[in-house]
Amino acid sequence: MAPDEEGIDQWLDVNQFPEHLKKYWFQRFKIWQKYNEGVWMTEDAWFGVTPEPIANKIAVHIAEAASKEKTIIIDAFAGVGGNAIAFARSGRWEQVFAIEKDPKTMKCAKHNAEIYGVSKKIVFHTGDCFDIIKRFIGKNNVVIFGSPPWGGTEYNADNVFDVSVMQPYNLDTLYKKFSKLTKHIVLYLPRNSDLNQIARYAPEGKKAEVAHYCMLGASKALCVYFGDFDFEGGEEVDASAS
Ligand SMILES: C[S@@+](CC[C@H](N)C(=O)[O-])C[C@H]1O[C@@H](n2cnc3c(N)ncnc32)[C@H](O)[C@@H]1O
Repeated sequence: MAPDEEGIDQWLDVNQFPEHLKKYWFQRFKIWQKYNEGVWMTEDAWFGVTPEPIANKIAVHIAEAASKEKTIIIDAFAGVGGNAIAFARSGRWEQVFAIEKDPKTMKCAKHNAEIYGVSKKIVFHTGDCFDIIKRFIGKNNVVIFGSPPWGGTEYNADNVFDVSVMQPYNLDTLYKKFSKLTKHIVLYLPRNSDLNQIARYAPEGKKAEVAHYCMLGASKALCVYFGDFDFEGGEEVDASAS
């Protein structure tokens, strides 16, 4: 089904594809295996979507490392659905919530979830995640996943990315707001994020695990796992998605 709203696109021909995004055209099947089944995207979404092999790998890691009592996962910055779809496909969760503040981006997420056959397995909320997650306060069975905006492409410029200046939400804001709901938090951050800054948020006497997610031999991003995630005996954490 073709989108009927300006700003939502289903590019099936390179000639329609915006020139400034061309590099993503060549990666489209790495990003969405079912791209040709009619995936919807916004122009902005190409910069932030989690490629499917990485989203699947993250979903496996969280599914295996979270304790069995954790039955709800919230994707706080769901975008066009890359991670939420992978969480739903894993079959690990009783409930998967996807929160996205931009209505057009959310329309894409819902449509893409249909393509992947999991639209009924995700509860979608359009709005500000920091407000919506308040509904879950008091529940102790929640894991929160966040792939926040990183603030343009500036994170490529520095050798070490200063997470205190990440825009529009820095690590301090994300950690403090999310930890009011749960201490089991997974954040998807630039691959060159400052690990010393991240380590300061590890709860007293506990570790924060960090995993790099790679495609085509290079790290695309890292996830930091705060809280009770048990990677012992599981798969290698520093795994390649490619
Ligand atoms: C990096 S993208 C997420 C990409 C997503 N993981 C995917 O695979 O499509 C970040 C998203 O967060 C959304 N966003 C930003 N601030 C938000 C907020 N306060 N609440 C909910 N969504 C927000 C943006 O509109 C954007 O779509």
